[in-house]
Amino acid sequence: MRPIISLLFVLPACTFLPSKDAEREQYFLTEVKPILQQHCLRCHDGALPPPALNLTRPSSAFQRSANGRPYIVAEDPDCSLLIRAVQRGGTHPKLMPRKDISLTEDQIGVLREWIEDGARWPKGPSGILRAERSPEGP
Ligand code: HEC
Repeated sequence: MRPIISLLFVLPACTFLPSKDAEREQYFLTEVKPILQQHCLRCHDGALPPPALNLTRPSSAFQRSANGRPYIVAEDPDCSLLIRAVQRGGTHPKLMPRKDISLTEDQIGVLREWIEDGARWPKGPSGILRAERSPEGP
């Protein structure tokens, strides 16, 4: 009986918490956006035509790659090409040298957590990304 009773309490609390989406979008803005802007936007800025990965806005980032696989699958980091690319240390396309894409374990953790938590990406102006120089290097 116990598990059923606690489910009844937990579900409504989660479903009707109004701030949860706002919190998730805030996580994107403060944690995820800087990583993408500093490490990925230099190349994934929409200069290449689709289906190349364009990380400037959610409408393009949530597209599929040339072989039909989605770049970002909400709640499923392991199926998201974006995560697979950073976990492989940039060994996929020839033009993506290892040094340019290597993220720290913490940064990969942030991207994974964001996707696991629903991959919320604000649709307004705050969700538009631009290349930014990394503070650690050129
Ligand atoms: C030096 C340029 C460069 C940088 C920096 C870069 N990429 Fe790429 N990336 C490319 C190119 C070129 C391709 C091939 C064209 C495409 O699919 O967009 C590619 C492809 C990809 C793909 C598709 C891989 C596949 O299997 O189809 C993913 C996902 C990706 N990049 C993610 C990232 C992420 C995340 C970052 C930042 C951590 C990043 N890239 C940084 C150049 C870059």
